[in-house]
Amino acid sequence: MALQIIVGAQWGDEGKGRIVDWFAANADFTARYNGGDNAGHTVTVGETIFKLHLVPSGIIHPKVVAVMGNGMVVNPQRLLEEMEMLAAAGIGISPARLRISYAAHIITPAHQALDRALEAARGKDNIGTTGRGIGPAYTDKATRRGLRVADLLAADFSERLAAHLESANAALKTLGAAPLEIEPILTEFTDYVLRLTPYVADTAVELDAALRAGKTILAEGAQGTLLDLDHGTYPFVTSSSTVAPGALTGLGLGLTAARDARVTGVVKAFQTRVGSGPFPTELTGDLALRLRGTGEHPWDEYGTTTGRPRRVGWLDGVLLRYAARLNGFTELAVTKLDILSGLETLNICTAYRPKNAGTFSRDEKLFTDLPFGPADLAPYEPVYEELPGWKEDVSGVRKWDDLPSAARDYLDRVAGLAGVPVRLVSVGPEREQIVNH
Ligand code: IMP
Repeated sequence: MALQIIVGAQWGDEGKGRIVDWFAANADFTARYNGGDNAGHTVTVGETIFKLHLVPSGIIHPKVVAVMGNGMVVNPQRLLEEMEMLAAAGIGISPARLRISYAAHIITPAHQALDRALEAARGKDNIGTTGRGIGPAYTDKATRRGLRVADLLAADFSERLAAHLESANAALKTLGAAPLEIEPILTEFTDYVLRLTPYVADTAVELDAALRAGKTILAEGAQGTLLDLDHGTYPFVTSSSTVAPGALTGLGLGLTAARDARVTGVVKAFQTRVGSGPFPTELTGDLALRLRGTGEHPWDEYGTTTGRPRRVGWLDGVLLRYAARLNGFTELAVTKLDILSGLETLNICTAYRPKNAGTFSRDEKLFTDLPFGPADLAPYEPVYEELPGWKEDVSGVRKWDDLPSAARDYLDRVAGLAGVPVRLVSVGPEREQIVNH
């Protein structure tokens, strides 16, 4: 299969980085198609933990070419820092291995300042953004005044950047935020331009040629389906197309490139979310602490990008079904199964019912699909199915048949809700802690 799309089935943080890492061992290209450094993809290789925000995670494999597609928004300062971090860890970084689309958009310090000022202005109704300037950069793209990577190469780039900063300063003043000093930013960018120019390419042409030559491309989605600008829990979403079809527009590929695509939905064995917005199966109290972890381990549920504690809850099968349909999943990769070990019983949400519906009656409507998408989930409450848990530590298991039968039953139920088989199960943070089914 030439194109494989790895996409988050929930609100991001599903563990896509390590699933990409698994498949990248046999891929030629790995390509990000959306978002920017709001993402945080973690890959653990032996003692080294790589936390990647911009560069596609597949870069860790020496033969893979990493592509940053036109659907991305790129903060040059953060990108250069990440390139330096990777090079220092012995990962070869060169224009032959890292390609940046000329049509990706640039994030400037003004976008970051605007992101923070807009969030402050929203007060208690804030979205809980990562503060990385994502929304303002995509706003500039949509209103057709954005700066693109190709602009870095233009003779008048400094003037265009200055004009952008002046207009952002006016907006910052209206929001009651301090304007930015323009000159130091212009100087910084002169350096970024010099260092990034060799990496700029028409990546769409290169990916098309790769597909024609029979190469394998892994498209690496950032965030998750429920944070998609169109299909997520709007307005508590990010500003890009996170779903699998977004891989085509975000990489500049035609529809036929996806004809036989493998679409791997990455789903955490329970549900998490960082930031505001609906979360019907959210848990509080001891069970929440148990699922979240204390924060002392890198795999505990604290944001990779912001360090914020994540909200946690039971797996939501209604939202998983929704994600399976929107993305066209062909298979699932279930992550963090090991965290559920030791729980007496497990709940999975298999349907919603109207809240305050009183005693459950025969005519009462149960929703297994969402009547109007996931934006307004307040009128519903989850209907749970209880499954037995398992006591065994599964972190050493590598074969499906060696999983406790209750764990297999749980995974079969997840597959049933999504309507596609489970192909991979992660049972720990290490590269090889995977059950390949
Ligand atoms: P933004 O993408 O920074 O604008 O944030 C919008 C929403 O998406 C917030 O709720 C963030 O917490 C969430 N978000 C953005 N990126 C990620 C991610 O990579 N993982 C999980 N949540 C994310």
